[in-house]
Amino acid sequence: MRHIDPSTIPHAESHRYLLGGVAPRPIAFVGTLDAGGRPNLSPFSFFNAFGANPPVIAFSPAFRGTDGTPKHSFLNIKATGEFTVSVVSYAMVEQVSLASGEYPEGVDEWVKSGFTKLPSSRIAPPGVAESPMVMECRLLHHIDLGGGPASGNLMIGEVVMFHIKESAFDGKYLDAERLDLVGRMGGALYCRASGSAVFTLAKPSHAGIGFDALPERVRNSPILTGSDLAKLAGAGELPDIGAVAAFWREKLASAGEHPPDDIEVELRLGDPERALDALLPRLRDGAPNAETEALLHRVAKAFLHRDMIDRAWQCVLAVL
Ligand SMILES: Cc1cc2nc3c(=O)[nH]c(=O)nc-3n(C[C@H](O)[C@H](O)[C@H](O)COP(=O)(O)O)c2cc1C
Repeated sequence: MRHIDPSTIPHAESHRYLLGGVAPRPIAFVGTLDAGGRPNLSPFSFFNAFGANPPVIAFSPAFRGTDGTPKHSFLNIKATGEFTVSVVSYAMVEQVSLASGEYPEGVDEWVKSGFTKLPSSRIAPPGVAESPMVMECRLLHHIDLGGGPASGNLMIGEVVMFHIKESAFDGKYLDAERLDLVGRMGGALYCRASGSAVFTLAKPSHAGIGFDALPERVRNSPILTGSDLAKLAGAGELPDIGAVAAFWREKLASAGEHPPDDIEVELRLGDPERALDALLPRLRDGAPNAETEALLHRVAKAFLHRDMIDRAWQCVLAVL
């Protein structure tokens, strides 16, 4: 492991670590007007949402790393207290990148990058009509995060109006596939929050027993990973040992007409139920040894992969 004290390295290096490690980051495409009403549009990925009541977002236009000068977006918000944040979909990203060019003061990046202005209803700066969601924001606080080159300015804004395209909705709420948002990563990398990059993880309905409540042999398994153990530790309570023993008595007493005889084949085919049946002869032959325990953990892992948590518990408790 490398231990790096940021006070001992150039800020450009810290910047690289932050961009690479704090990723992916959503992108705020920020629309502002200067004191004279001239529009400005620029992307910022030091951005997130921070509260819902009231709805609050924040982003950070840094002082330029080269000469410490402020960005136009920052100056405009300081002057007017208003900005729009348009979220960025994959279809927009090339144009968004174009808008990030360091154009001279007063240049309208909607024009430069070919976007259309979406009039706001509560504030003066427009949003981006091509974006699936635009938020009208009023500045709540500006926090100066250092004052020198490459230091940030946290611009905290209250969302006073949402504009969301009908095509982004699945029923009442937003749909990731329909939004097809992009995130910024380190260097020139972006990612797309749709397709196979998106996965489901059900919100826990209760507090799990936790890793500390897992039997030691399970917690120290060389087969089960942290993710596997988290599924077991998410159980509301430890399974009843008597019920598990009864399950095994019944299982061992039953034998199909053509029991599977090769656990590796069944595991390779992703069939934990048949893999377990292939293991039965070993479990009938006296106390399970370390090798059998490892096989049981592999079968448990296959059950966990299918989110069959109870079956996995039966496997890992078979040899306790
Ligand atoms: C995807 C993306 C994300 C960016 N994020 C930030 C950021 O979080 N903070 C920042 O200061 N600059 C960021 N930039 C660079 C600014 O967009 C760039 O400096 C821009 O010219 C600022 O424009 P302005 O001076 O008109 O405000 C980002 C650029 C891109 C392409």
